[in-house]
Amino acid sequence: MSVKAPSVPAVKAVPVPADSSVWDRISNWASENKAVVYTIAGVAIVATGAGVVYYVQSNSGSSQNADAAPRLSKKERRKRKEEERKKAEAEKSATSPREAGDSKPQVASVTSEDEIPDIDEDTVQALSADQRKEFAQKLKEAGNKAYGAKNFDRAIELYSKAILCKPDPVYYSNRAACHNAKLEWQKVVDDTTAAIGLDPEYVKALNRRANAYDHLGKYSEALLDFTASCIIDGFKNEASAQSVERLLKKFAESKAKEMMEGRVAKLPSPTFVGNYLQSFRIKPRPAGLEDSVELSETTGKGQLQLGLQAMEKKTGEGYEEAAAAFDKALELGDLGEYEAFAYNMRGTFRCLRGKHEEALADLSKSIELDPSLTQSYIKRASMNLELGAPDKAEEDFEKALKQNSTDADIYYHRAQLHFIKGEFSEAAKDYQKSIDLDRDFIFSHIQLGVTQYKMGSIASSMATFRRCTKNFEKVPDVYNYYGELLLDQSRFPEAIERFDTAIEMEAAKPMSMNVLPLINKALTLFQWKQDFAEAEKLCQKALIIDPECDIAVATMAQLLLQQGKVTEALRYFERAAELARTEGELVNALSYAEATRTQIHVQEKYPQLASKLSGMGAVLK
Ligand SMILES: *[C@@H]1O[C@H](CO)[C@@H](O)[C@H](O)[C@H]1NC(C)=O
Repeated sequence: MSVKAPSVPAVKAVPVPADSSVWDRISNWASENKAVVYTIAGVAIVATGAGVVYYVQSNSGSSQNADAAPRLSKKERRKRKEEERKKAEAEKSATSPREAGDSKPQVASVTSEDEIPDIDEDTVQALSADQRKEFAQKLKEAGNKAYGAKNFDRAIELYSKAILCKPDPVYYSNRAACHNAKLEWQKVVDDTTAAIGLDPEYVKALNRRANAYDHLGKYSEALLDFTASCIIDGFKNEASAQSVERLLKKFAESKAKEMMEGRVAKLPSPTFVGNYLQSFRIKPRPAGLEDSVELSETTGKGQLQLGLQAMEKKTGEGYEEAAAAFDKALELGDLGEYEAFAYNMRGTFRCLRGKHEEALADLSKSIELDPSLTQSYIKRASMNLELGAPDKAEEDFEKALKQNSTDADIYYHRAQLHFIKGEFSEAAKDYQKSIDLDRDFIFSHIQLGVTQYKMGSIASSMATFRRCTKNFEKVPDVYNYYGELLLDQSRFPEAIERFDTAIEMEAAKPMSMNVLPLINKALTLFQWKQDFAEAEKLCQKALIIDPECDIAVATMAQLLLQQGKVTEALRYFERAAELARTEGELVNALSYAEATRTQIHVQEKYPQLASKLSGMGAVLK
């Protein structure tokens, strides 16, 4: 239940294709800045005056971000599964009907069968108020006994009669327990709804109904009930909190699957594509494809040349054009010596679109045609990494090095693999090797600095960055990443200075602009001065430049959430889901969106809880 401040910075690794550690960055940010963070098994439930928000921690199975822990071993996964199963069982029993007669202690009055009043709709009319009360109590006790003996039909009959005498939420809830035992979920919903109608804060009935909704596949409804129950009992019931997490995941996963099926594979934002492409050292165009060479657009080679030209625009349109041209080049064929290169390029864009299988096939084909084209191994490795197969990635690096042991790109990307796996000293070695082979590639220097920071060598890291600003004084990325590390050390004014420099340099570029420094500045202003207005402005600016930038969208959502602008925040989370490229990213975005939506619904449906929540916030702050 404590605020867990992350010890590692939310630094984004420089461009592996999977460099969107945005969710990670945000959940770190949230836990650093929220008043209260309840961390319950992976979900941080954050209570603020404005409401409750869940932060699904993104360590669940994304090889995406550089901060991610290495993937779980098989054994570890099995262990987790087992724990989950136990959890689910515990939860089942928590919401299972041992409550029968729960709210009042069971009176030891032994009611024998013939003492049980026999009433029906007509006879009940004749009873006095006191008699009804007395009968109801007796019928309920008999019902509990029948329930205890697992005679559910009899128990249902008795509770029904008790309800005729006196409509009491406990009787409805107990009858729901019987339906629950008989797996009649709709009837459970009906009875618990009646119980909740009589007592809106009846936690057990809420949990029972949630469980029934879950069985009926109505995850949103289930989520709403579990959330309400969590708030009512002050997050004391671990099982309900875990159910919230489980349902969020279930909901998001099933919806993500549905959405992925109908989705046209789009390229990610130009910021993202640009970052990926620049993680390879710039090479001159293959001889014969330069601008000076006249090629017909109706030939494969002509399309290849067109694609390369379009890429150099570095805009979203340019990248789409390039992707289309590479597709066409291979359709037209007759590529001769360029065939392996063409497969490499098409594979690259397919990979960026998230079409993993097809991309893998292209890269393998490229390798088959020309094993000396080491970039294809590297790209295949980074795809394997994204697909959660670091072993295969490692193999590809080995093969690439066999082809050419002096190619700096290979070392750089292998270092990225080590970095992602948390093997920082291995990573540092490979970055250094890459630098030794080619001092001019800036990202090896930047990443070395970040890695040193991660290893706790703050002084050497800062020295690396100071050196970078001397040797690469015109490269905005240097200032951006330097700024991130300064921000992590809460050296706010210095961080701002670096981000401003990066922003200025980016803006001076003739073509597209990397918006990360804008977003970083927004985060800094927020963390330093709680300056929402300025932070929002910067994010808006980023979104004007790159409307598809997922990091800007997610940051905006969080800024709005922090200010209690929940409905607006929801819009941005939904936008983040639209922009998500992979199923994993989509699940993340949908979880946030659904958690936010649930929060809005809880507030609408249970206005009385709002005061409870803010009261609680005050106590815990
Ligand atoms: C190996 O890679 C380097 C750097 O890209 C390149 O200069 C060199 O020509 C390559 N060697 C071979 C044998 O391909």
